[in-house]
Amino acid sequence: MGNDGFGAYNIEDLRLRAKKRLPRGIFEYVDRGAEDEVALRHNTAIYRSLKIKNRVLADVSERTTVTELFGHKFAMPFGISPTASAGLVCEGGEVGLARAAARMGVPCTAATSSLTPMEEIYEAGDGNIWFQLYMWSDMDLTARFVERVKATGFETMLVTVDGPVPSNREYNYHNGFAMPLRYSPKLIAQVLAKPGWCLRVLAPQYLKRGPFRKVNNPPELASKLTQVEVESAYTKPAAQNWDDIKRIRDMWPGNLLVKGLQSSEDAVIAADLGLQGVVLSNHGGRYLDSAPAPLEVVPEVKAAVGDRIKIIIDSGARRGGDIVKAIALGADMVMSGRPTLYGSAVAGEAGSYRALEIFQTEMDRVIAQIGVNGIDELGPHIFWNPPDWIPKGVVAS
Ligand SMILES: Cc1cc2nc3c(=O)[nH]c(=O)nc-3n(C[C@H](O)[C@H](O)[C@H](O)COP(=O)(O)O)c2cc1C
Repeated sequence: MGNDGFGAYNIEDLRLRAKKRLPRGIFEYVDRGAEDEVALRHNTAIYRSLKIKNRVLADVSERTTVTELFGHKFAMPFGISPTASAGLVCEGGEVGLARAAARMGVPCTAATSSLTPMEEIYEAGDGNIWFQLYMWSDMDLTARFVERVKATGFETMLVTVDGPVPSNREYNYHNGFAMPLRYSPKLIAQVLAKPGWCLRVLAPQYLKRGPFRKVNNPPELASKLTQVEVESAYTKPAAQNWDDIKRIRDMWPGNLLVKGLQSSEDAVIAADLGLQGVVLSNHGGRYLDSAPAPLEVVPEVKAAVGDRIKIIIDSGARRGGDIVKAIALGADMVMSGRPTLYGSAVAGEAGSYRALEIFQTEMDRVIAQIGVNGIDELGPHIFWNPPDWIPKGVVAS
């Protein structure tokens, strides 16, 4: 890597830098997971546990990490997952993420719960922007919202469906960052301990945009982070079901995916409903703590849906080699939320770009080392001594 990129040579370097710069509650909001954080740790550990074989003298001088998805060419099979409240780590953080993704040539997903208007994020993304929808239980409200997403120009929408009830994040009770935010002495002390964050993020936010708000929320819903109870009652309805997805399918002409499923049964339903894809995800270990890593369910989902729909996965990827492993198992793209947020906390758009650059250069190096010139040459044959959950021959090599 020519440019030393803020002394960050890998995603963990960016993470440690972000930890130094953010108030504790905000860093933990980004970094941590539900309950005992078993899923959080496992998501990354499973990637580390898979070994791939080096192949030599294969002439990899013409190699490329480029891929194509939904009719667009991307610099690599990697995209930025939606992350609510990216504006807490960097002023206008979502805009920086979108610009970094556009510069790298990969998709970035704007979240319903962003602190920046969806229209502003879309503009910044130069067309490489997808939208993540949380359905409200009032489906008429949801329908009007989807019309706004469509009118903004988004072509691809992910509906997140893994939160029928709120998640159990016990660390929030300890660090005082539980939603709705309360200005407790603990929270105020954490904020004052990071004067740099106050100057870089808090002050410009208040001067330019006022208090932190989920600005995309329809006026019927509370939008201040101090008021989220009203909104949660709408966004996490336990009654949500596949009929709601059918209704959205009928009103959304573009690419439609559901995000947050982890079983072949659900993936088959998604395919039968005419969706374009699924995002296998355990929300980065932020919901069901006993969930498998999405990487582990790729082979069974691929076996169940074949080429009927695209399979995207997120949760746990931290190295370019992780992208290679997921694609070899049958995924079409890997996404990740935290790495670019760490980058954003370190240096805004430039920091997010740095995270993407790390993924791309690492992926390029790994495919060279395993004797591969492009992603269509990846398959289960690249693994050394694969574990049983990788059925041999499930993906053509
Ligand atoms: C701070 C933060 C906020 C998130 N907000 C959302 C959200 O609003 N909607 C959503 O679908 N997923 C959200 N996610 C989950 C991500 O989209 C993604 O599934 C997760 O980050 C993947 O794990 P990884 O960060 O280990 O790659 C959030 C994740 C983080 C870390």
